[in-house]
Amino acid sequence: MHGGNLRWAKEHYHVDEFIDLSANINPFGPPVGVFQRLQEALSQIVHYPDPESKALRLKLSQLSGIPYDMILAGNGAGELIYTLLQALRPEKVLIPVPAFSEYARAAAAVHANISYWPLGAEGWQALPDCRLPERARQVEQTWLGILNGIDLLFLCSPHNPTGSLLPPEGFVSIMRAAERSGCLVIFDESFYDFTLDALRWSAREYLQEFPNLIVLYSLTKFYSLPGLRLGTVFAQPSLIRALKTARDPWSVNVLAQEAGLEALEDRDFPGWVREKLQESRAFFYERFTGADLRSLQLKPTQANFALIELKEGNAQQLTERLGRRGILVRDCSSFEGLEGEFIRVAIKDQGSMARLIQVFKAIHV
Ligand SMILES: Cc1ncc(COP(=O)(O)O)c(C=O)c1O
Repeated sequence: MHGGNLRWAKEHYHVDEFIDLSANINPFGPPVGVFQRLQEALSQIVHYPDPESKALRLKLSQLSGIPYDMILAGNGAGELIYTLLQALRPEKVLIPVPAFSEYARAAAAVHANISYWPLGAEGWQALPDCRLPERARQVEQTWLGILNGIDLLFLCSPHNPTGSLLPPEGFVSIMRAAERSGCLVIFDESFYDFTLDALRWSAREYLQEFPNLIVLYSLTKFYSLPGLRLGTVFAQPSLIRALKTARDPWSVNVLAQEAGLEALEDRDFPGWVREKLQESRAFFYERFTGADLRSLQLKPTQANFALIELKEGNAQQLTERLGRRGILVRDCSSFEGLEGEFIRVAIKDQGSMARLIQVFKAIHV
């Protein structure tokens, strides 16, 4: 089960309005120009969308420096995960867990044999520091063993649900191992834009160095368009061509293409959102610590969401109790590879975070 299902929540909790911390979406909405652009684009819905999403891909190419023929747009990163698996048809897939559940569902849909690698609640923080060449070699060697016989590896950073970052040196060690073992890597950086400026690096920078690398990116989260859907894949031109033949040519509708273009044109928006969210994150961590919620442990994060471990009680019950009080959080019981009881909360505006803490206190957790 995913977060963000408001129709289900309304029916289940009999509540009309929620603070939704169950889906990791930028709470400040899309760039202002997007609504105007959508109004203007409405008359275009009588035509088929451009199957090439040409204007959008040119924009992404201009902003990222990645050649146009290495970019594909899709109906959200979610659709592209399925399209990738359909086109690649791997026999053996490795998923470090906990992980976004659609990796396993998409792999199962093409009858792949799925293995899991335990990352645990620390996520990528558990990976040794590969800035030291000796450690980097050790990690490469370890992953060479882990990837033995694997056709496709999923990596995710910032990592859902732990909020941890895979540092570039660790990424390179794993990529070297993958290259040596002939394994393809899907690197999901759907939460890339939320990372603090000082820590930001993109796997897109490594596409030339590692032809086995496929980078997945979502515009629905940071640009707050989950209901419209927009995502992209960056990969070798031959794979982009194969992906096009594996799917519906019109999956990216006219409005999503226009909204994406408009969103990417607003160059002040990313810094503004990051700054606001950084303030919210600092506020939340400070207030949480001050609230002395002894049965809950808030884990560190470098993204726009965080895990909270329950020292007592169970996650499903806590999720229900919060839901009845109009706050939706993600019960993490369904995540493979997460030992213990956890919920995941999105970091939203300060008012929402203050309300969460107030409710925690009211229900005596
Ligand atoms: C890690 C990760 N990748 C991809 C997606 C899918 O994103 P989109 O909304 O673009 O389909 C999600 C959605 O929650 C996610 O958490």
